Amino acid sequence: MATNTGLRRAYTLWAVFYDSVVMFLRGSRRRSVGLLDLRAGDSVLIVGCGTGADFEFIPPDAEVTAVDLTPAMLRRAAAKVGARRIRLLEMDAMDLRFPDKTFDKTILHLILAVVPDPGRALQEAERVTKPGGLLVALDKFWNRPTPPPFPLRMANSVLGGYVTSVDRNFHAILAKTSLTLVRDIPLGFGGLYWLYLLRKPTGLPGAPAAPRGSRAA
Ligand SMILES: C[S@@+](CC[C@H](N)C(=O)[O-])C[C@H]1O[C@@H](n2cnc3c(N)ncnc32)[C@H](O)[C@@H]1O
Repeated sequence: MATNTGLRRAYTLWAVFYDSVVMFLRGSRRRSVGLLDLRAGDSVLIVGCGTGADFEFIPPDAEVTAVDLTPAMLRRAAAKVGARRIRLLEMDAMDLRFPDKTFDKTILHLILAVVPDPGRALQEAERVTKPGGLLVALDKFWNRPTPPPFPLRMANSVLGGYVTSVDRNFHAILAKTSLTLVRDIPLGFGGLYWLYLLRKPTGLPGAPAAPRGSRAA
């Protein structure tokens, strides 16, 4: 079972070669950030920003707050900030220290399969996103009713407690929130990687809350 202490230790070691390992996801990151249709002045939260691999896709006029648990990852992210308006903070994704409804848009890349309690992390992301705001989640999920094949189960037992899990069901995580599923995009890579576009309901009169985990489009 992953713990924040174990994850911080593991990602301190990973930080040195992390970027080269996740290079294969560059196109998927671009696509994911593109779904948010970022506009000048949008306030954007990146949860578990790691080494800042998403920063190159963020327009320079967006107001970004990027949080992560691991100082070693944040130091590498700091080196990528450049001229962008990006504030970096050490913070637990499951306990975000922001008021409700702070951000227009929220990015969750490779974090829901990592944190000990992904439902709690997504609830926190929902809480700090403004009503009507968009969120993207890109990660490894096992959404099939059958258990993962043996090699994946083995990988999970080795990696799950330290780096990332490969057996989490996105729809079970989503069901812990009121977020609406707008788009689900399979990214390939053995059917393991998915990209989800989510929206926080407005809560306006006449706009009934969407059923949990429902597809809006
Ligand atoms: C797989 S990396 C993903 C980094 C980045 N989002 C990306 O797409 O490359 C997972 C990151 O989550 C961070 N992390 C792990 N547990 C966390 C927690 N409880 N709160 C915030 N960040 C956490 C790690 O330090 C690491 O940087």
